[in-house]
Amino acid sequence: MSKIARITISLDQELLEQFEKKIAGVGYASRSEAMKEIVRQSLVEQEWQESDEVAGTISLVYDHHEGSMVKKIVAVQHDFGHVIICSQHVHLDHTNCLEVLVVRGKPPEIRGLMDRLKSIRGMKHSALMTATTGRHIH
Ligand code: NI
Repeated sequence: MSKIARITISLDQELLEQFEKKIAGVGYASRSEAMKEIVRQSLVEQEWQESDEVAGTISLVYDHHEGSMVKKIVAVQHDFGHVIICSQHVHLDHTNCLEVLVVRGKPPEIRGLMDRLKSIRGMKHSALMTATTGRHIH
């Protein structure tokens, strides 16, 4: 557990009101908890800009009956085997598949993988959740 530092910040009244509005209903124990979360989020964003190694997840939803989709998705994943730690495939119903890839690597490589996957024709949903390796976040 790191030492707690206390700071005082000055905000424009309007900005404070926007902040209060933003955190209302989320259930933060205090403004401090909300601020910590926002600071951590911005650190993760910075990590994705500057760091050599980040982690995240990619989720995909597609119809496995659609032409050569499955072949293409598998081929792309083989091209990026060094970035994909594991994947999970769920058969949502008779038609639709949900696939989740856990990824770790250089941000441009992960974005490259994401670009290749989302450009596959017929993809119903694709999203990248930018997480962190946790090493630089406290
Ligand atoms: Ni399936």
